[in-house]
Amino acid sequence: SLQGLDLRAEIDRLRKERNAVILAHYYQKPEIQDLADFVGDSLDLSRKAQATDADVIAFCGVRFMAETAKILSPEKIVVLPDMDAGCSLEDSCPPEQFAAFRAQHPDHIALTYINCSAAVKALSDVIVTSSSAEKILSQIPADQKIIFGPDKHLGGYLARKTGRDMLLWPGVCIVHEAFSETELLKLKAQFPDAPVAAHPECPAHVLDHADYVGSTSGILEFAKTMPQDTLIVATEPHIIHQMEKAVPEKTFIGAPGADGNCNCNICPYMALNTMEKLYIALRDLEPRIEIEEELRLKAKKSLDAMLAMAS
Ligand code: 13P
Ligand code: SF4
Repeated sequence: SLQGLDLRAEIDRLRKERNAVILAHYYQKPEIQDLADFVGDSLDLSRKAQATDADVIAFCGVRFMAETAKILSPEKIVVLPDMDAGCSLEDSCPPEQFAAFRAQHPDHIALTYINCSAAVKALSDVIVTSSSAEKILSQIPADQKIIFGPDKHLGGYLARKTGRDMLLWPGVCIVHEAFSETELLKLKAQFPDAPVAAHPECPAHVLDHADYVGSTSGILEFAKTMPQDTLIVATEPHIIHQMEKAVPEKTFIGAPGADGNCNCNICPYMALNTMEKLYIALRDLEPRIEIEEELRLKAKKSLDAMLAMAS
């Protein structure tokens, strides 16, 4: 039984014993963010996973992120505290259907959001994250036809922003879909001076009200540098923990769902990781991410293209 264990101390002990690095996404529970060696957005975390000289990567995020770490650092043991930590975007894009979609559009390249399975990465030409998508898109010749998947809201946002017409896969993030425009407008009326910062996984009817749109690290930077003292945050609310640590004198309000509060916008997949499961993952070096080598090499091509074009 784990009862009576000082989990924080045990995790620290195991981290040293195993020469492990703990990487965490901004959507993790505060206690996990606080003990991680590094907290970041999807692109930052990929870069860290690639560059680390640790023997073990304990990835506190969702499965596609831990898979990305393994694809880029195959010689390392990569553990994910809960193997069921998936993503609705990944679920919306089964590889067989994506392959068929590609086959119907042979003159298109596939620009694919990192929130997808290794198999879908292997079927793609270039991976993007929300922080790198615009920069990567600007390097693709204007006459090149593009399939963008699996997030139709990020794809739609990029299409509106850059004027590029892309063929969109109809996937969504269930967390960002849950923000309510009506409730957001009520909140804005209550805090008329507060800007709204939103993640591009939000639908257009939310992005239309945003003063800043960007990745989690972009939103965090906006929170630190904005002159106003209150911010409405339209992304997964656990990121507010980093904002409160960085600028405690400012006020951060999570954008509401239909029920008027932001609890329905907690990512259920990210929430599966706990201190207990992280401790067990470091203790047992399980559950481990394993990717078959041929698939890994194919997926790595599109990730390498991202890393080169994003730098
Ligand atoms: P970023 O941290 O790259 O902005 O991604 C957000 C997200 O939804 C991760 O699942
Ligand atoms: Fe997937 Fe959305 Fe959760 Fe991110 S917040 S992991 S996109 S379901």
